[in-house]
Amino acid sequence: MAQRGDLLVSYAMSIIFILVVSLPCEAVDHGDRKTYIVYLGTLPKDDVFSPLSHHIGILERVTESSSASNLLVRSYKRSFNGFAAKLTDRERERLAKMKEVVSVFPSTTYKLQTTRSWEFLGFNEKLKRNPTVESNVIVGVIDTGIWPESESFSDEGFGPAPKKWKGVCKGGKNFTCNNKIIGARFYVGSSARDEIGHGSHTASTVAGIPVKGVSFYGLAHGTATGGVPSARIAEYKVCGSNECATDKILAAFDDAIADGVDIITISIGDSIVVPFDQDPIAIGAFHALEKGILTSQSAGNDGPYMGTVSSIAPWILTVAASSIDRHIIDKVVLGNGRTLVGNSVNAFDLNGTSFPLIEGKDASSECGDCDEGCLDPNLVKGKIVVCRWPIGIIEARRVGAIGAVTDSKPRAKLLKSEVIKDLAAPTVASFSSRGPNRILFEIIKPDITAPGVDILAAYSPVAPVTESFEDRRHVKYSFLSGTSMACPHAAGVAAYIKPFHPNWSPAAIKSSIMTTAGPANGTDDSYTPGVFSYGSGQINPLKALNPGLVYETSKDDYIKLLCSILDESKVRLISGEKRPCPAKNDKISAKDLNYPSMAVNILAETSFSIQFQRTVKNVGHANSIYKAKTISKPGINIKVVPQVLSFKSLNEKKTFNLTVFGRSIPLLTRVSASLVWTDGTHSVRSPILVSATNYSS
Ligand SMILES: *[C@@H]1O[C@H](CO)[C@@H](O)[C@H](O)[C@H]1NC(C)=O
Ligand SMILES: *[C@@H]1O[C@H](CO)[C@@H](O)[C@H](O)[C@H]1NC(C)=O
Ligand SMILES: *[C@@H]1O[C@H](CO)[C@@H](O)[C@H](O)[C@H]1NC(C)=O
Ligand SMILES: *[C@@H]1O[C@H](CO)[C@@H](O)[C@H](O)[C@H]1NC(C)=O
Repeated sequence: MAQRGDLLVSYAMSIIFILVVSLPCEAVDHGDRKTYIVYLGTLPKDDVFSPLSHHIGILERVTESSSASNLLVRSYKRSFNGFAAKLTDRERERLAKMKEVVSVFPSTTYKLQTTRSWEFLGFNEKLKRNPTVESNVIVGVIDTGIWPESESFSDEGFGPAPKKWKGVCKGGKNFTCNNKIIGARFYVGSSARDEIGHGSHTASTVAGIPVKGVSFYGLAHGTATGGVPSARIAEYKVCGSNECATDKILAAFDDAIADGVDIITISIGDSIVVPFDQDPIAIGAFHALEKGILTSQSAGNDGPYMGTVSSIAPWILTVAASSIDRHIIDKVVLGNGRTLVGNSVNAFDLNGTSFPLIEGKDASSECGDCDEGCLDPNLVKGKIVVCRWPIGIIEARRVGAIGAVTDSKPRAKLLKSEVIKDLAAPTVASFSSRGPNRILFEIIKPDITAPGVDILAAYSPVAPVTESFEDRRHVKYSFLSGTSMACPHAAGVAAYIKPFHPNWSPAAIKSSIMTTAGPANGTDDSYTPGVFSYGSGQINPLKALNPGLVYETSKDDYIKLLCSILDESKVRLISGEKRPCPAKNDKISAKDLNYPSMAVNILAETSFSIQFQRTVKNVGHANSIYKAKTISKPGINIKVVPQVLSFKSLNEKKTFNLTVFGRSIPLLTRVSASLVWTDGTHSVRSPILVSATNYSS
């Protein structure tokens, strides 16, 4: 009988995508100078403005060095204003004080974080599509590059690039674009070619064409396809390895926005949370939003701990990772006949041969378990090593063990992986980063969850299949897991919606994805509410196409929000407006941003009554009547005024007030609820979260 082991990892001839925990790195050193990003906000609307001389001029004012232009690393000048330069501490301090500077922050490195997944989401061959219109959608992929010869990117049947496309194919040495990959740029290495696999994987997940008969050594055999197979891809390579320099990420945003992409997908992030004016992805995505471009970003792989989500800006769609119904399992038959089942992909059958197990601590000399350099090759040869941590498989492989397991039951037989059907609701992966949002608690992050476990998609044939240097297998399609894989699924849904609703704002698309999300499975108790792992829930593309109502948020709303967290002088530079901030009382706090979810901190053990004001826009039927339905847990009451919203026309807006009130909630207790507007056809759902703290927000 099969029994689920705690966690089992077998590496012998198997693939395991090790989730790299990203660490903030020091700024790149150049003697006593380091590379810093100097963010100057929006581009002046002045025709004669010359960004390059402006940037050098600013540098000249702070540097003692005679040739300021030698210090300039790159200029951002197409979609926003700023530059990267090599600075000393004194120069950095002087720059930071200049009135035309929004922020100065070190250029650090961020990390990278089949497709049955789309069918699982309800996409199948019968789906309503208009390939001609879809082929006008351009997805910008900021990643490790792309393998242009992959079958997933064949342009057979594609016409020339859409007229609105203003980008180029500058893929470098031996890199040719086609009518599928219409643009390529690289900011690292000598070409836009993907040598890691990650970029080809994400690009094919969002917009790869259907490729039949794809599998990984016979597993999960089927058709690999992207969410919008007729859409075009523009690739921006910013990572040459696992590391992606932030000054390059900003350069990619600067270009992608000006090139005319419709959606940006970026499966890159950091583990630390930084303020918006020092977060290159928040900055890039903000200027993308100004041009009507929605950015989808991975939540991060730092779960399951709370407060680990680092993608927190309200104008970004932040995506958590969940499992799909196809579960790839490995069985290990133990000496006593018990079978352990774990998640891993092991493509080789060891023909029923049994191998002895040895515990890492019994096979290591001085140090403990399977730590680097600890295992004794003589003791593990021909055996499967039991390690306490998955990372131990690297050491086990290094010393030549047959396999590695992270369980503590002895003697095992490794069977070839099987594919089973998992009937539970999509479960958020344990690695997926969790809320709460550490800067704006009232904006629930992640926003959504999408498939990100065991995703089969295009790969780079020159990249190793596992992170182990000794693995010499090469494949065209491979399995990867991570929020990196979930992010392009969400971007694919946004790109799917776009041609049906060409005039929708990024916020409207994001709202429709969030309010139509389905249930997801994750920890859900009074300390770790489910919304911290899956936000509004599991993405549902078919419903997202027709949400009924949307919560619009304009650039002005975001600017008013920025006014409550940054100095007005900085908001002026970012927005390009002379008087961006309203009078003190009109500034909006994050709670009052017209966001499709609602959260608030209240004082514990004290009676409370908090009002949220929201406005919804009718995008369903002209004449429609929506009724409010609330679902709540003990501890809080909810009142919605008015209870009924009657619309007479399309695009009509209606405002309502939602009040959460109650007597007293114990400290550190979080109560979840939800609001659903229904007209009989549509269900427009928003999660609500009330947290009892020792301060109120
Ligand atoms: C270009 O790259 C492809 C893929 O690696 C390779 O097969 C081909 O030989 C290369 N061509 C040249 C001229 O280097
Ligand atoms: C398993 O057995 C088959 C046929 O008996 C053989 O071809 C294959 O090499 C064996 N595999 C291993 C890993 O021993
Ligand atoms: C969530 O997952 C657990 C454990 O796998 C399962 O018992 C439960 O039924 C699932 N819940 C739903 C709603 O599918
Ligand atoms: C919502 O509350 C505000 C402030 O309390 C009030 O001015 C407004 O009229 C209310 N709106 C509705 C629809 O009740």
